[in-house]
Amino acid sequence: MPQGAIKIAPSILAADFARLGEQVVEAEQNGADRIHVDVMDGHFVPNISLGAVVVEGLRKVTRLQLEVHMMITNPDLFLEEFCEAGSDSFLVHWEGNANLHRTVQRIKALGKGAGVVINPATTAAMLEEILPDVDKVLVMTVNPGFGHQHFLSSTLAKIRRVRQSSEQIKPECDLEVDGEVDGGIDEETAPLAVTAGANVLVAGTSVFAEEQGVAAAMKRLRTVANNAWNETQR
Ligand code: DX5
Ligand code: ZN
Repeated sequence: MPQGAIKIAPSILAADFARLGEQVVEAEQNGADRIHVDVMDGHFVPNISLGAVVVEGLRKVTRLQLEVHMMITNPDLFLEEFCEAGSDSFLVHWEGNANLHRTVQRIKALGKGAGVVINPATTAAMLEEILPDVDKVLVMTVNPGFGHQHFLSSTLAKIRRVRQSSEQIKPECDLEVDGEVDGGIDEETAPLAVTAGANVLVAGTSVFAEEQGVAAAMKRLRTVANNAWNETQR
């Protein structure tokens, strides 16, 4: 199991874009550990979201790590632009990338954190060879492309396998590999993911689109996640 506390990465996809800076600042003030930025091109996933200009804007309002989830056909073409805009790390998909190792090395050569993402239909075994080269792995708990979808509980077994593999591969390493989950994470599903071995929770709707507001939403998510984490330590 991971050694550190659970981290929460609010996904701005569910934010009110008319008040984006304000909402990100609110998330930071209420304990967000990093900000998750979903980039979609309408090809890799059937939706278009945002580009580097948004990262550039966010860089001015937050000191948190800006983690960019690349849901685009050729992430290599845009890495430098996103770096210049102020990105701190990238999450790139295993699917559709014939040269994933090269993409990961490019990200590292740019001095940024590198993570690999797998979709619901992709097995954890596909991470085996790339795991020693990355800082984080992300298990999609919905099909990528849209916020506000239902968590796929069929991914729980995979979250467990990913955690086991990363512990086997980097047992002596001080820096643990972050095990992230993304999609449908809320008060009910966060504890399931944490119990299965996730230590970073990406959450859009349950942070930015809750009626009670960002502060209360962050507090509730943090509480259930920490409770689940504490249970795993008993
Ligand atoms: C989906 C994105 C997610 C999305 C999660 O393709 O990768 O980061 O914003 O949104 P929720 O938390 O609403 O499922
Ligand atoms: Zn995402």
